Amino acid sequence: MGAATNIVWHEASVDRGARAQQRGHRSAILWFTGLSGSGKSSLANAVNAVLFERGLATYVLDGDNVRHGLCKDLGFSDADREENIRRIGEVAKLFLDAGVITLTAFVSPFQADRDRARALVAEGDFIEIYCAAELEVCEGRDPKGLYAKARAGVIKDFTGISSPYEAPLKPELRLNTGAMALEQSVALVIDYLETQGVLT
Ligand code: PPS
Repeated sequence: MGAATNIVWHEASVDRGARAQQRGHRSAILWFTGLSGSGKSSLANAVNAVLFERGLATYVLDGDNVRHGLCKDLGFSDADREENIRRIGEVAKLFLDAGVITLTAFVSPFQADRDRARALVAEGDFIEIYCAAELEVCEGRDPKGLYAKARAGVIKDFTGISSPYEAPLKPELRLNTGAMALEQSVALVIDYLETQGVLT
């Protein structure tokens, strides 16, 4: 399958600025990253609930869910994870343009893949939130029994066990989701969005 040729970019009749003005808030990408069981999805969903309650346009893109559809052809090899994150980066960029505060909850273990997603949008639009729960804590929680299966060798290439996790070098936020209460993490994210002018 080759890349398409003879394609021309069309300018939209309604742009991001117009949407922000109508909705009363700007859009952004909140990129949650961390080990399986680090609390990415719980935190993204809890923040989403607060924003929704405030009447903002928001959406959560979650790893497990996206892998049921858009990315169901992908596994967990390094190359497939790269493609997974590439697609999510592009989808998040579309949501950003649509004026939506987009919360992504993917392991996204590789710095280069996260950097590529960041580079798709302007500075300030991509907020990397590292859910920095220790491996021992995540493995102790093991909410889906995946760590046990990975240790037993039933699941190959499992992040933190048999596949690497590269901790973010310069995340906008680093939250110790292994020790902090969910409400505290939510409050820190909301604070950050307020100080950055995403929320007013
Ligand atoms: S990635 O690395 O960003 O492409 O992964 P992601 O799309 O976020 O999918 C992670 C969820 O898939 C489940 N799962 C695995 N995770 C890591 N490694 C392996 N091998 C694996 N196999 C299945 C797991 O439920 C992850 O969800 P979370 O919410 O992170 O626990």
